Amino acid sequence: MTHNGSPETWLITGGAGFIGSNFVLAARELNAARIVNLDSLTYAGNLQNLAAVADDPGHRFVRGDIADRELVGRLLQEHQPRAVVHFAAESHVDRSIYGPQDFLETNIMGTFHLLEAVRQYWDALPGPQQQDFRFLHISTDEVYGSLAPEDPAFSETTPYAPNSPYAASKAASDHLVRACHHTYGLPTLITNCSNNYGPFQFPEKLIPLMILQAQQGKPLPIYGDGLNVRDWLYVTDHCEALRLVLSRGRVGETYNIGGNCEKTNLEVVRTLCAVLDELFPDSPHRPHDRLITFVKDRPGHDRRYAINISKISRELGWRPRESFESGLSKTVGWYLDHPAWVVSVESGDYRQWLELHYGQT
Ligand code: NAD
Ligand code: TYD
Repeated sequence: MTHNGSPETWLITGGAGFIGSNFVLAARELNAARIVNLDSLTYAGNLQNLAAVADDPGHRFVRGDIADRELVGRLLQEHQPRAVVHFAAESHVDRSIYGPQDFLETNIMGTFHLLEAVRQYWDALPGPQQQDFRFLHISTDEVYGSLAPEDPAFSETTPYAPNSPYAASKAASDHLVRACHHTYGLPTLITNCSNNYGPFQFPEKLIPLMILQAQQGKPLPIYGDGLNVRDWLYVTDHCEALRLVLSRGRVGETYNIGGNCEKTNLEVVRTLCAVLDELFPDSPHRPHDRLITFVKDRPGHDRRYAINISKISRELGWRPRESFESGLSKTVGWYLDHPAWVVSVESGDYRQWLELHYGQT
């Protein structure tokens, strides 16, 4: 809240994507802040994700690029946000393997230009507003590289060892944010989160891809031996953690966020298949795990990610609310209940991606 009791304003980048839109919807529902939502609407951005706030005077959508310093500068001047929450990125590892350049441009240079515009705004703020201001940078556990089975989970002091072009570009952006704090004093916060799942996730990522493929009786492509481990977090739990970091996180610090939920890909897909078997006892595709197909491994595929959440739990009292079972059943329910959304994202770009990557449409 601002000093006069009305909600403050946050400038969100990438708020038409998966996590950003979940964050915006929750923030508006809680009346936590007025939102200015800057998104360039790449293939991953979708205004339908924001349908619930289309007529909300507390939400303003602006189509534009984070690298457009003049636009960002204007938005900052006009709306005087208390915080910038930076989600915008190219986010899919497989796409970064086919074409890394967009990842470097958006994740590194885009973040750089955004930081420059924000720094200029922040520099000119009066003292108390300068102190209250926060730049929250949303990042990933993939910057830490890959764990062996017996290794301890990633903590905030784990050295960076990014393995994919995506992870390298996010690591670079984290370093730029860190440097901006240390050199210029910008009040930054960084979060590194594990794999999210939930409503509005583009169906190039494991969980929504498998839900939609299984529903249609299509192959469920598992890379390699299927024993790679990810630490799964339901997206609204991530959003809650971000709100806490924004309100009470210590400036200049990093917070790791994870689900305490390590699963092999095979376990994830089998569990999903069991949920669908139960929901659709008469499906001709039952048992859905018949559809599992092992395919060529992703090059440089990280074996295991796991996040140690001690710091955020201790300092901010956060822990995930959803179990994997409850989160997964909500997610499956959401995709089944939103066929129009699914049809809308199954754009030309999406079909071309399936064709290029899996040799199917
Ligand atoms: P997403 O790909 O679904 O959404 C990204 C959004 O950014 C899209 O709406 C897109 O249009 C927008 N965007 C891309 N380039 C832009 C630009 N140059 N200017 C303005 N907008 C632009 O991604 P997501 O899964 O919601 O991830 C959001 C953030 O969270 C990313 O920074 C990602 O690295 C991080 N993250 C994601 C996960 C995950 O599991 N999805 C986990 C940890 C961290
Ligand atoms: P993904 O959702 O792309 O997230 P990330 O690579 O950022 O962790 O993939 C999650 C895991 O699922 C990862 O180990 C790769 C694997 N995977 C498959 O086995 N098959 C697929 O078709 C996809 C998209 C992912």
